[in-house]
Amino acid sequence: MKVGIVLGTRPEIIKLSPIIRKLEEFKNNDIEYFIIHTNQHYSENLDRIFFKELNLPEPKYNLGVGSASHGKQTGRMLEGIERVLIREKPDIVVVQGDTNSTLAGALASSKLGIKVAHVEAGLRSYDRGMPEEINRVLTDHISNYLFVPTKVAEENLRREGIRENVFLVGNTIVDATLQNIEIAERRKEEIFEEEMLDIVRDRDYFLLTIHRAENTDNRRRLKSIVEGILKVAEYYDKTVVFPAHPRTENKLKKYCLWDKLKNSNIKILEPIGYFKFLILEKYAKLILTDSGGVQEEACILKVPCITLRKNTERPETLEVGSNILVDVEKGDILEAVDTMLRRSRNWRNPFGDGKSGERIVKILVEGYDSSMER
Ligand code: UD1
Ligand code: UDP
Repeated sequence: MKVGIVLGTRPEIIKLSPIIRKLEEFKNNDIEYFIIHTNQHYSENLDRIFFKELNLPEPKYNLGVGSASHGKQTGRMLEGIERVLIREKPDIVVVQGDTNSTLAGALASSKLGIKVAHVEAGLRSYDRGMPEEINRVLTDHISNYLFVPTKVAEENLRREGIRENVFLVGNTIVDATLQNIEIAERRKEEIFEEEMLDIVRDRDYFLLTIHRAENTDNRRRLKSIVEGILKVAEYYDKTVVFPAHPRTENKLKKYCLWDKLKNSNIKILEPIGYFKFLILEKYAKLILTDSGGVQEEACILKVPCITLRKNTERPETLEVGSNILVDVEKGDILEAVDTMLRRSRNWRNPFGDGKSGERIVKILVEGYDSSMER
């Protein structure tokens, strides 16, 4: 049996790492796998750094697609992935999440009659204005194995008529977080330079990430976020550590908002590696974000989270109380911060036990049934 893995962005590398590790363990004469990297992310600190830190094997194929408009980027990926699949003839292709790389991997495979396994299936924001929602829905509907992280996701699929070959396995982000936080803890003195180490040791800062198209590509929304964050930093007299995604940096500069942040107590960093980021999450007083993975990690690490969006495809975090939503143009970020800082951190983790990667690989390998068709 041969498994192909398609990935392309930072969160896919992180969330597929527990599966790749397990496949490496299972590898023998009957089971082999290879990785196709679309290179949707290509900057060192959005890409290579994670392969190094997570000790992952080199992708056998790197398509070098890079950045472009949705159609161009997805089209280039489809062409490249198809070429590799025709050559490699895998039995199953594994994709993760909701990026353009996810959709391209699923579409190229299903058109060639190759089975698709979607990791983190069934998530829904019910907001078709998000490119990620389109990618999720389409990928789910052409997948043969749907690995759902929670019952909510299972129910979402059920409502869309997808009931077979849905496996409730938890989210591999729990595996990745638990596996790496210990390593990060052991190495924190060596990975951080002195100034950041002091900030981490004081445990008296907020952590911020922003990168969603709906926030970055809309001048009004991005301005509201910047103003809200500056207000929070001033009112609470806290450093806000902000590893800025390149997309966000470009837009902040374009809309003349970058200098406002720079000349305040916002500590702007380049995007950082997983070890540093996990430590910054763990010791933050509070996290403000629009990232999917960060909402989950905050919940797992028991750090209160504010999601700067109108909706979330991770409603479990709202239910357990680790997260609240703030529509940045209407809601009040200060009020949300106050609410979350008062909340006790005794919520449960709804994303599983950290054994999702193992479960998924076992189902793919042991439960592999060549007669399974959708
Ligand atoms: C993509 C995903 C998003 C995911 C995010 C993870 C889609 C539609 N979006 O968004 O769901 O949450 O990745 O971080 O698939 N850039 C660089 N270096 C890179 C990559 C991008 O500088 O290595 C810059 C380029 O200016 C590029 C911009 O970031 O135009 C956006 O990159 P892109 O891959 O299109 O989308 P993301 O915003 O990264
Ligand atoms: N992350 C990181 N360094 C950073 C910011 C995020 O390692 O500077 C990690 C974070 O721990 C999480 C993942 O990247 O696991 C989230 O990726 P991102 O926010 O880009 O995408 P999303 O989850 O929203 O798709």
